[in-house]
Amino acid sequence: MITEPTSFSAESYFATQPPPPTLEHDVERVTEWVQKQVAAGRRVVLVTSGGTTVPLELNVVRFLDNFSAGTRGATSAEYFLKAGYAVIFMHRQFSLQPFSRHYSHSTNPFLDFLEIEPSNDSSDSTPRISVTPEKRADLREVLTVYKAVQAAGTLFTLSFVTVNDYLWLLRAVSQELSVLRRKALYYLAAAVSDFFLPRQKLSVHKIQSGKGSLSIEMDQVPKILKPMVDEWTRDGYIVSFKLETDPELLIPKARIALERYGHQVVIGNDLHRRKFEVVFVSRNPDHQTNGDTEFTENWLKIDPALTHPGIEQIKEIEEDIIRELVKKHTAWIAVSPTST
Ligand code: PMT
Repeated sequence: MITEPTSFSAESYFATQPPPPTLEHDVERVTEWVQKQVAAGRRVVLVTSGGTTVPLELNVVRFLDNFSAGTRGATSAEYFLKAGYAVIFMHRQFSLQPFSRHYSHSTNPFLDFLEIEPSNDSSDSTPRISVTPEKRADLREVLTVYKAVQAAGTLFTLSFVTVNDYLWLLRAVSQELSVLRRKALYYLAAAVSDFFLPRQKLSVHKIQSGKGSLSIEMDQVPKILKPMVDEWTRDGYIVSFKLETDPELLIPKARIALERYGHQVVIGNDLHRRKFEVVFVSRNPDHQTNGDTEFTENWLKIDPALTHPGIEQIKEIEEDIIRELVKKHTAWIAVSPTST
């Protein structure tokens, strides 16, 4: 049994932590779906969304989690679909999903939209269910796009729960998508746990109480953006997110990530301002001063009053984020127009 903290590289992580039992089946489904998108000549985006759990026991009763509801990922997936992308939506089980997000959780409960009407049909007295008139236009709009996406087969959904599920799935899906070369975009909006308990350190059964406080020493989850850029994807356009609660750290940390991992864009967001402002940080490849990389920062901001749920004309910052990214991805593809 390992007791000392272990420093995991991505390689040692995958060599020692077991894959989720559904991985093989998921990958088969992804391969088939990706082939269809390649044949249709579509661009594909992988959207990761929601938080990851960290189990504290093998027979899991307790786990650590984080705040992410998956709003950013689910909303972004819709705007990518609207922009003509095929989307792999890799999300935390039971977090928000594209389209159904409009009617799930507590802000807009679906059952409040429905009415029971007595039947006018003398041969069938079963009461009818209808949508309240003031909600019909919105529902029709969401349903129309949802049905069109279903018919086109452009949304593929996969789910994870633990950080281990997430890491295995991310590696496998990224490798599958690499056949698309520059046409693949990776949009990593999931809030991934930074610490975990390796399988070898997990208590098999429920941790017992009664002995006072509980101390747990966790290991660091390997930073997988580096192998993702260098090994799992080929020329894909990679966008990661950086969440901070101290606004002073946002840009410095985004710059460090870009230097360290070598991907294309970090979108910085502050926990409390993330619905109405984000900053795009990227490297400026043509400009270096004294060997130092120069960075470009672009803020996207919308009026916070327009983001309140329940207002007539709600504005979602993801619309602007995706518009900006589609432009950048188009320029990225144009560098090598012969890529598949
Ligand atoms: O879901 P919402 O409630 O709408 O909230 C959205 C959000 C705030 C969670 C989202 O916008 C966001 O900022 N997501 C990333 C938060 C984060 O965990 O950042 P990080 O610094 O830990 O990770 C940086 C990036 O690397 C992330 O894109 C993450 O998905 C990825 N990562 C990190 C560690 C790791 N081991 N594997 C990863 O893939």
